[in-house]
Amino acid sequence: MNDQIFIPKPYPSKIDSGSFTWSSPSNIALVKYWGKTNVQIPKNPSISFTLNQCATTTKLSFSKQSLTDFSVEVFFEGELNQTFKPKIITFFQRVEKYLPFLKDYRFKIETTNSFPHSSGIASSASGMSALALCLMSVEQALGKHHSHAFFYKKAAFLARLGSGSACRSLYGGLVSWGAHPHLKNSSDLFGTPYQETEVHDVFKSYHDTILLVDKGEKQVSSTLGHNLMNGHPYAQYRFEQANDNISKLMSILKSGDTKAFINLVESEALTLHAMMMTSDPYFILMKPNTLKIINKIWQHRKETKSNLCFTLDAGANVHLLYPDVEHRDVHSFIETQLKQHCQNGQFIHDRVGKGPILLS
Ligand code: DP6
Repeated sequence: MNDQIFIPKPYPSKIDSGSFTWSSPSNIALVKYWGKTNVQIPKNPSISFTLNQCATTTKLSFSKQSLTDFSVEVFFEGELNQTFKPKIITFFQRVEKYLPFLKDYRFKIETTNSFPHSSGIASSASGMSALALCLMSVEQALGKHHSHAFFYKKAAFLARLGSGSACRSLYGGLVSWGAHPHLKNSSDLFGTPYQETEVHDVFKSYHDTILLVDKGEKQVSSTLGHNLMNGHPYAQYRFEQANDNISKLMSILKSGDTKAFINLVESEALTLHAMMMTSDPYFILMKPNTLKIINKIWQHRKETKSNLCFTLDAGANVHLLYPDVEHRDVHSFIETQLKQHCQNGQFIHDRVGKGPILLS
């Protein structure tokens, strides 16, 4: 499939102004996306759980303008924010071909996150998916009546051009991104909802508690991180491994084998970090507390029948994944054993969610 289907015919309606508000969640990858080619094409497929609590709410207001360039103001948590603007302008440049109305309006973007500011939680997935949905609502207001399926597919396509992992935030449950022979309708161009019928009940209500180990600025930006995979000595093998892991994960998701799930998910997280440790330049993104938490999880699994496991993004925070039936035990384990390794004792309880919501 190519991108032509996302280029609209002239819009039938005219509209002077309006606004739309969407809330869109973050997601946590089980098989990781790490490495891309231009523009935002992943080097390997990935699969994630969509979260519920961690979300960005974005209000996009627009009014007709006579200028011939992009005009956009960004307000973050109620304050005018100049640092996000270049990223939004780059995004507008990338998607203008697919949303030819972008220079016709003056835009105001007001955005807030449900999670604490600078918590080290990636907000690009929730932020870019929320913005893509707002822009799709504008397109719809201009008279494009897309089917429900096409509306979300194009939103995912646009979100990908803002941030790769954002294209997995458009649907609830499990979402994949990247072409894979066993994944039905999979594409490098947009995220695709994972077939519900192929998922064992245990994985439909998984929890994710995010332990905030390091709330500082990202040590390595994702763009720099992905670039480290170019010319990386182990990259080719890693991309093959990710493809294999997708196939393995598919049978695990079907059978409900939580022990196999633990092995695969933890290995994916450590492989992501191993790739960063062996790139040029090299980075260690875990902190001493990240390792303390990992060791305590391993010890806990030895001593109990727990199915608690961890995954990591490109940072020091730890995502704890566990089945719903174990949530009470895990919560008390966090309180008594893990909380002490979090910055200011902070963590966020989240779980698999249903996907974005149109608020107005
Ligand atoms: C480690 O989606 O943030 O979280 O496409 O450059 O915006 P860009 O990168 P981004 O990369 C996320 C990488 C990851 C793994 C994952 O979510 O799959």
